[in-house]
Amino acid sequence: MFRVSKSFFPLPSARTGTAALLLAPVAIALLAACSPDNLQSTFGTAGPIAEDQANLFKFIFWIAAVVFVLVEGAVIFAAIRYRRRSDSDKLPYQTHGNTKLEITWTIVPAIILIGVAIPTLAQIWGQQSGVPDDLGEVLNVEAIGHQWWFEFRYPDHEVITANELHIPVGRPVSFRLESQDVVHSFWVPKIAGKVDMVPLNDNFMWMIGSEVGTFYGQCAEFCGIAHAHMRFRVIVQTEEDFQAWLDGMHTAPDAPAPGSPEAAGQQLFAANCSTCHTNNSTSPGSYAQEINTQQARWNGWISDTENSLIVSAPNLTNFGDHITLGAGLKDLNQDSLVAWITDPSSIKIGTRMQKHAAIYRTPDGELRPDGKPGLSESEISDIATYLLSLKPGSGSGDDTADSPDSGSIDGAAVFATNCTGCHSTGDDTKIGPGLAGVGERAASRVQGLSADEYIEQSIREPSASIVPGFNNLMPPWGHLGDDKIDALVTYLKTLK
Ligand code: CUA
Repeated sequence: MFRVSKSFFPLPSARTGTAALLLAPVAIALLAACSPDNLQSTFGTAGPIAEDQANLFKFIFWIAAVVFVLVEGAVIFAAIRYRRRSDSDKLPYQTHGNTKLEITWTIVPAIILIGVAIPTLAQIWGQQSGVPDDLGEVLNVEAIGHQWWFEFRYPDHEVITANELHIPVGRPVSFRLESQDVVHSFWVPKIAGKVDMVPLNDNFMWMIGSEVGTFYGQCAEFCGIAHAHMRFRVIVQTEEDFQAWLDGMHTAPDAPAPGSPEAAGQQLFAANCSTCHTNNSTSPGSYAQEINTQQARWNGWISDTENSLIVSAPNLTNFGDHITLGAGLKDLNQDSLVAWITDPSSIKIGTRMQKHAAIYRTPDGELRPDGKPGLSESEISDIATYLLSLKPGSGSGDDTADSPDSGSIDGAAVFATNCTGCHSTGDDTKIGPGLAGVGERAASRVQGLSADEYIEQSIREPSASIVPGFNNLMPPWGHLGDDKIDALVTYLKTLK
């Protein structure tokens, strides 16, 4: 004898009532994410591709809603219409193996799925076959995922930046998506997305920003501890503003006034931060230079992932023009930048900066127990002030503190802003060898090369002859130009 137990159909109790009350705000909060005004909502679109994707979503949603209502309606109808009406144990009429019904509920879903597949595949193929020819001049961008930030390269303009992508309004942008380490995903919810960034396998996508404004981007593939903190901004500009930004990225900041906090910050930055962060990719040749350098940083990190003192890091050229810090996590200002330098992991858990930069280690190479950098508060403040001052200058200056006057270039200043991140002027090893006495050693390093020739070769082509005990991490540094290299060679020979 089979009897339906009462507990199969529990009546609402005080407990379920409380649970419903608690869940209501959660449900409302989740539904709020659907608001088109939400900064990462895919409903309030600002580009034709995101709009096509949103329309496709709505099309599929309404088909699913109709199916839901019909199926649930049939279930409820059947449950009520054919419910048990007596205590009789007689089985109802069995409809097992009704061929017409079987065929119907096989064919109808197949037709629905074909109806969904046609526009879906058309959109996927449209996205993957590249920018249509009739949409105007294409801007090419290489977007590279790193743990945990985004690098953006503009190969046609030789511009490199990080975490803030500038694009012109209404113009198609074609992306080559790469990853240096793990699988990330590139997504700008209001403009287009999302496509994975896979190591050793480039992916492609394109987008058009149809409104001037600043839009949120986000890594959309779980990639590790800081995945949720791996954000970026897309700054959609008028064509004139975009061209001005490109020009600015080729314009070095004006040199800081001697004795100013910016000047002190510049020296501190060069000595403590420039191993991993380039901040002067404005001159011709610096684009290729930065790509080599970023690769060298990666090689250095991968050769010793625990103890490496070098790691890939965002390019900070014209950083003072940025609006955010830490891959889109904080608004950029003096306070947030000081807080970041003082304790980056407190803002972004998992950042490699604190684990690998020498500045967070004792002279013995151990991590400092307080996790703070070995700098005073005023030194940290000077670095922040300097970085915030990095904006396109009057265009007459040079990207280093030394005088652009040919013939009177200060080799010590060239060294301070280019080499101190990796080399000391004494005997101690930083990333590269200490350079005291390099002039004397250089004469006998390579047969047939004079001291001058050897030092110059070491600057232009570091891989040509490597000092025993060192991996070659140094990228070619020939972009300095003949005059500065001459001055640097002269200066290096004076180090005793
Ligand atoms: Cu990168 Cu998630």
